[in-house]
Amino acid sequence: MRSFLFLFSWFLAASFQAQRIYCDAINAQIQTLGAFPFGVASGDPTPSSFILVTQLNPFRVTGEATVRCEVSSNRSFLPLLKEFNFVPLAADGYAVKTEVQGLEENKTYYYRFIYGKDTSLLGKAKTTCLNCSSLKMAVVSCSNYEWGYFNAYRRIANMDDIDLVVHLGDYIYEHAPGGYGNKDLPRKHIPDHEIVSMEDYRSRYANYRLDPDLQALHAAHSFITIWDDHEIANDAYKEGAQNHQPEDGDWEERKKNAQKVYFEWLPLKENPSKSIQRKFEFGNLASMYMMDERLEARTQQGKGENDSLRAMLGKSQRDWFLHEMLSDKQKVWKIWANQVIFSEVNPPAAVVKASKSKLNTDMWDGYAVERNTLMDYWVQHEIKDIVIITGDAHVSMGMNLQHQGKKLGIEWVTPSITSANLNERISTFKAHVVENMFRKKRLNPQLKHVDLCNHGFMLVELNEKEAKNTWYYEKTILKPSTKKKKSKTLRWTKDK
Ligand SMILES: [Fe+2]
Repeated sequence: MRSFLFLFSWFLAASFQAQRIYCDAINAQIQTLGAFPFGVASGDPTPSSFILVTQLNPFRVTGEATVRCEVSSNRSFLPLLKEFNFVPLAADGYAVKTEVQGLEENKTYYYRFIYGKDTSLLGKAKTTCLNCSSLKMAVVSCSNYEWGYFNAYRRIANMDDIDLVVHLGDYIYEHAPGGYGNKDLPRKHIPDHEIVSMEDYRSRYANYRLDPDLQALHAAHSFITIWDDHEIANDAYKEGAQNHQPEDGDWEERKKNAQKVYFEWLPLKENPSKSIQRKFEFGNLASMYMMDERLEARTQQGKGENDSLRAMLGKSQRDWFLHEMLSDKQKVWKIWANQVIFSEVNPPAAVVKASKSKLNTDMWDGYAVERNTLMDYWVQHEIKDIVIITGDAHVSMGMNLQHQGKKLGIEWVTPSITSANLNERISTFKAHVVENMFRKKRLNPQLKHVDLCNHGFMLVELNEKEAKNTWYYEKTILKPSTKKKKSKTLRWTKDK
């Protein structure tokens, strides 16, 4: 009898646990809302398919809940093109995710989710082109909720002529409220501690996805995403992270939680190993490669020493990347959607003195042997017109990519959506002084644009002759605003 009662109470506890998806603070916000409080998202587009995702509100679940998804080429949903039914599971945070196939290339579709009497936000998703003559994508990274308002997200949501949004990571941040943010703003991280458990990560995504600007951006455009470190913990590498201490529990467990929840919330294609390594093709115009520079193979950041054991991609990803690039050699552009700055960036003496380091060892400067392996291969196999788009650094940079005297292409670094710039750590005057030091030709001859003070995003436009990038800057992130600052454009002509 005793063992029966024990089993019964264990069952009750386990089923309660299974139903509990979010922390109390998120529950308080969503318990009176409809079935889809976090909006909708589409992503990983191909010429014939895309992924759709949403989260069903656990407070609306009764019995075996069936969610319907509708897709149409018309805003009115007449005629209805495709219809799917799902039973989302508590074990997956009530995520609803599907791949819609059999679509036409380069076409905009409308989609929505329906549960009972509730209908989600209307979502727009676009397939990629099969015979592409041009490609226009917004490139974003580093969107910390506590540092400011997502005005840049709203601006992109209102652009109706872009093909897709590339998010290069730091979509969420793992810190406790006040741990890394602007304490003067009313935007606070939920839950009220650093995120470690599955419930924590789900609650943090919910926290971000209750933001109206982020919801609007997902509803308006299809995303292609990779994670960087903050989707897990600061300066993450395979075996640990700067911001993971023994009291945070088991690192492998934390990684698993972060990866599972990322796949529940972001519109990328499912795979059993939760890998973000993949490639997108845009006809003969371009291929775009995505890899994991954090959890797959990265060795711990060093102190400036460089040796052949230090890996950012690791052999398996590197071999795949180079093999794919070689097979795509005849394509006009080879786009690498990349987490941390690839090019050599030489800090001015004043920065070296203040930071006591000649290198940012979390970037590719700390993994120079593997970087040389990639560039040697590109030179040896005459792979050029490489367009590297990079996030992570909270700076804007435009750099020419050159190795052994050969022009390889460019690297364009996107500013943060909100995460702290240099002028939010030191004064704007001092930040501009540092900016001018970086600009010195003898220090950084590869650098064609640098901005250490502005938030915003990049708009990258490619055609058969030219790659063009415009850095868009927001007037403020301290309040909701549509005001912008002067933008900056760089162009790169295809090497003949
Ligand atoms: Fe960041």
